[in-house]
Amino acid sequence: AVERTLSIIKPDATRRNLTGKINARFEDGGLRIVAQKRIRLSREQAERFYAVHAERAFFKDLVEFMISGPVVVQVLEGENAIARNREIMGATNPANAAAGTIRKDFAESIEANSVHGSDAPETAAEEIRFFFSGLELVG
Ligand code: CMP
Repeated sequence: AVERTLSIIKPDATRRNLTGKINARFEDGGLRIVAQKRIRLSREQAERFYAVHAERAFFKDLVEFMISGPVVVQVLEGENAIARNREIMGATNPANAAAGTIRKDFAESIEANSVHGSDAPETAAEEIRFFFSGLELVG
């Protein structure tokens, strides 16, 4: 089925001017960028976005990292977009990521891992709503 997923190009990647190279991976992988904006997350937004990880040891550092520079938030659309995007990204930890994935090729560490992608249909819908209004999604 055609799905939509929320993607974030993280501060380590925007800092190194990798937005275009990362977007090419998505487009070449069969996903369409149907919404996109470059923003700076507030601390409050980053804490809310990652609230599910609030009790994890890495939470505080993760929030600091996500507010350390601009991010590009985007909605990707395509056949099985959620799983497809996760394939294109590779494993969370770049040390475990397969060859040819974004995280293998670009990520600096498990924290500075260049991209975020929704992990399931319910979280995708919630994460898209967090950043975008319906009017901003142009298929
Ligand atoms: P992301 O897909 O954005 O979801 C949560 C993020 O927490 C994850 O990618 C990583 O960048 C970050 N993170 C930092 N340390 C860890 C860890 N030990 N395990 C999982 N995620 C981590």
